[in-house]
Amino acid sequence: MTSKIPSFTLNNGREMPSIGYGTWQAKDEELEKALEAALEAGYRHIDTAYIYENEKVIGKVLKRWIDEGRVKREDIFLVTKLPPGGVHPEGVSKYLNRSLENLQMDYVDLYLIHAPFAFKDVDGQPVPIKPDGTIDLDTSTDHVAIWKEMEKQMDSGKTKAIGLSNFNKTQIERVLKNCKIRPSALQIELHPYLQQNELVDVCKQNNIIVTAYSPLGSPGLAAFMETNFGRKINLPDILGNPTIKAIAKKHSKTEAQAVLRFLVQSGFVAIPKSTNPVRLKQNLDIFDFELDEEDIKQLKVLDEGIRICDWKVVKGIENHPEYPFKDVIKE
Ligand SMILES: NC(=O)c1ccc[n+]([C@@H]2O[C@H](COP(=O)([O-])OP(=O)(O)OC[C@H]3O[C@@H](n4cnc5c(N)ncnc54)[C@H](OP(=O)(O)O)[C@@H]3O)[C@@H](O)[C@H]2O)c1
Repeated sequence: MTSKIPSFTLNNGREMPSIGYGTWQAKDEELEKALEAALEAGYRHIDTAYIYENEKVIGKVLKRWIDEGRVKREDIFLVTKLPPGGVHPEGVSKYLNRSLENLQMDYVDLYLIHAPFAFKDVDGQPVPIKPDGTIDLDTSTDHVAIWKEMEKQMDSGKTKAIGLSNFNKTQIERVLKNCKIRPSALQIELHPYLQQNELVDVCKQNNIIVTAYSPLGSPGLAAFMETNFGRKINLPDILGNPTIKAIAKKHSKTEAQAVLRFLVQSGFVAIPKSTNPVRLKQNLDIFDFELDEEDIKQLKVLDEGIRICDWKVVKGIENHPEYPFKDVIKE
């Protein structure tokens, strides 16, 4: 196992490892093997979500490791998320309970509201689609009422921290103004082409840790979209960017390592997904080098505001009153 991964301290005093293991798009059989390899490699922070439909296999592997004494529960930082179908006050405890059951856990370390918008809560249909092909939205969403339920989950001990994902500045500020327990973390898309400076500033001012999702630009997403949704998308090739290639070469590291180092050195948690045993190890091996000021300056200017994960594959999503991404999206 590699040495301990540096962590950031959350506003509840608990430590969150700066590199986590992303699991979106990873299906059960490959994930079971890959999570074994990830734990062997030293990952102790795991990011999942009810809507990824892979919590059960994650729970199975973690239980095995805990039962065999290979890891202690308290050494794992486990994150899961309230699905859009549960983004209403009664949904919070219902879905956290389901996630805990799937994960075979008494508590998670961080529970996030996956997104600020809501779908109708239809059992067996995490993404309920109407006959016309559009999403069946629940537009009654009230973040303050939902946050109160999130706070109750902390009081009950079922989660050690609560946070947000995909919320924009206005939405975060409304929660902050009306909360008893402040969000510990915000999980957003963040990589060299989308650096989210405004949101990052709000988080820094409010002691909220930012987790960078799709930190490598989600290179597998195009194939996933085509297979699962029959939709062709053009993705920016972040790892093929000449500046990133040159910085990686200068430090004798891979492009992915240069990008992950940039994110962690900038004060973010990053959660790259890989089910490849070589790449998942590489993604953790970023603590033996440092980017210099010139590298950082060059990476900073790559920010073009290119968003990859706008959820628009879900037809009609932008009609929800809390759809968060009203900025110009380059595709
Ligand atoms: N909150 C949200 O709404 C939200 C949205 C998106 C993602 N997330 C979370 O963030 C995690 C990461 O985001 P993501 O999965 O979209 O994208 P990502 O981590 O940026 O990219 C994952 C892709 O990169 C490949 N890859 C991994 N390491 C690599 C390396 N060292 N060199 C080259 N390619 C590499 C992976 O393929 P292999 O597996 O074959 O290595 C996979 O196709 C997710 O898994 C999920 O946990 C959250």
